[in-house]
Amino acid sequence: MNSADYIALEHKYGAHNYHPLPVVLSTGKGAQVWDVDGKCYFDFLSAYSAVNQGHMHPRIISALSNQLQRLTLTSRAFYNDQLGPYEKYITACFGFDRVLPMNTGVEAGETAIKLARRWAYDIKGVPQNQARIVFAAGNFWGRTLAAISSSDDPSSYSGFGPFMPGFERIAYNSIEALETALSHTDVAAFMVEPIQGEAGVIVPDEGYLSEIRRLCTKNHVLWIADEIQTGLCRTGKMLACDHEQVKPDILILGKALSGGTLPVSAVLASHEIMLTIKPGEHGSTYGGNPLACAVATEALRVLIDERLDINAHERGIQLRSGLQQLQHRFSFIKEIRGKGLLNAIEIDETSGIKAWDICIGLAQHGILAKPTHGHIIRFAPPLVITENEIDTCLHRMEQSLLTYA
Ligand SMILES: Cc1ncc(COP(=O)(O)O)c(C=O)c1O
Repeated sequence: MNSADYIALEHKYGAHNYHPLPVVLSTGKGAQVWDVDGKCYFDFLSAYSAVNQGHMHPRIISALSNQLQRLTLTSRAFYNDQLGPYEKYITACFGFDRVLPMNTGVEAGETAIKLARRWAYDIKGVPQNQARIVFAAGNFWGRTLAAISSSDDPSSYSGFGPFMPGFERIAYNSIEALETALSHTDVAAFMVEPIQGEAGVIVPDEGYLSEIRRLCTKNHVLWIADEIQTGLCRTGKMLACDHEQVKPDILILGKALSGGTLPVSAVLASHEIMLTIKPGEHGSTYGGNPLACAVATEALRVLIDERLDINAHERGIQLRSGLQQLQHRFSFIKEIRGKGLLNAIEIDETSGIKAWDICIGLAQHGILAKPTHGHIIRFAPPLVITENEIDTCLHRMEQSLLTYA
């Protein structure tokens, strides 16, 4: 079978809930992937930042295959010998008392909101069923009914109502809006991404995260930091919150927590918050499974041992500076933004040039990136990418953009 055959199969038998670039991948290593015809690409999406440690990281694959030989799933009806050590390790890594393990990122978001609601009733004293959760405009945290209920993107929510009550949205990066919203006594939590990924890599003003911390504390509101995309070294620090040295009340992680091998997510919080949920009140068959625990422990160790925070920081500076040079040459590049290796270019919509077409051209030159919102392209390669590889990629980008010169 060739690429066209595989694409035809997906088209014929799969749901049409994605619109992939016409590239059929079959192997990967580090920052690169190969398609079924053997063509090599640099991966500038990293599975939406799930492959921070690089494709098929040998240590992660070895932890996975070792545990695969022993035990994969017990359910939480029994204890297993991987969960406790993993819980001890991850809570120490991030400085939290407790962790609740889940699978996908959106489940971690759901869990955080359930915890915040329960905390609001049991500890804050909000009247039953009145708890409010505040979100930021442009948020994205997945596709469940709760997640789309907080969304202001019609392609997420249209035609799927009715929606979850008790959710409200305020402007992102606005201290005034936050101050007003949090002053309401029924607010349980403010859930926000420190940098908005799917919205197009929107970096808030410096000081925003510190103000969130201050206002949440002042108003006795929990701050839920969604670091599912920004966390785990992606922005040049272990957490994006570390850029302002602030700690949320609830931290949610996912994606790269397994280095791209299986869905593993985590919710971290204090004793006070976490212990509001009692046995039988929340869970997941696969949450905390021994395979996930073994893999997540190794995925975190790799990030730390290989100092991928530093590489993300340094390669990010190199990438943005190269992109800025391209911006001087190609006037349709309106803006370049990002932190660490979470970056985006925004195309001037009046130029008539489509981000999709640019991505097709980039793929032809061996770089895989995906548009978001039609005019933004995210550049988020695996954090193991080297200085030479970034230079190669910048050269390929330039070659590919020459079509528009
Ligand atoms: C910030 C953020 N939160 C949550 C999610 C949901 O993660 P998942 O797709 O694993 O459910 C995503 C996915 O892109 C995300 O970017």
